[in-house]
Amino acid sequence: MSALATRPVHRMRTAILISGRGSNMHSLIAASRSPDFPAEIALVLSNKADAPGLAAAKAAGIATAAVDHKIYAGREEFERSMQAMLEIHRIEAICLAGFMRLLTPWFVGQWAGRMINIHPALLPSYRGLHTHERALADGVKIHGCTVHFVVPEMDAGPVIAQAAVPVTDQDTPETLAVRVLAQEHVIYPLALRLLGSGAIRIDGNRVYTGSAEDGRVLVVPPPV
Ligand code: GAR
Repeated sequence: MSALATRPVHRMRTAILISGRGSNMHSLIAASRSPDFPAEIALVLSNKADAPGLAAAKAAGIATAAVDHKIYAGREEFERSMQAMLEIHRIEAICLAGFMRLLTPWFVGQWAGRMINIHPALLPSYRGLHTHERALADGVKIHGCTVHFVVPEMDAGPVIAQAAVPVTDQDTPETLAVRVLAQEHVIYPLALRLLGSGAIRIDGNRVYTGSAEDGRVLVVPPPV
């Protein structure tokens, strides 16, 4: 069978929102190049015109947009401008990938069930910033990352995929961040594939997929 024959009829038009380097963005773009991937990256949008990820997306031939939050009077004005850009590009789903702006309930409501985020910790532990430092300070032996649906509360919402990363005696926040990031690059494409395939059902805080992918949502790397 040719690659064309396996391409889904409609690929979910997805925007990636970034503020920085965009390594998760790269992993999503790479996955979306697979012929059977059910989502296409139709836009990369940043609140920072000089975000390195934005230039990289442009170089990769993907539509890009910068909406600078600093020129708007308030959060909602900024978001209405983003929303207009998302509508121009006929976006159906959003992946937040290191997008470092808090979102209002209004914007989150526009994208309920269609906006997902990656967070560098095993939620609901370590919401917020400096997750690796805090995990080491607490002495946990298992750390990791989470892809979840976005809800108005920060770093909360139904969990789609998690990866566990063992903590070693030698770990610093930097070494731990590197191993967690490698797993982020595994689970984010997996979660977008699940969303794009239309298999996800949300019931309260639980996400059900009813698919063979289910058994893959917890990735435990071998001990280092
Ligand atoms: C990632 O580690 C992501 O989990 C984190 O920002 C980094 C972005 O890296 N996101 C958050 O902390 C959101 N709460 P990237 O730009 O290389 O994808």
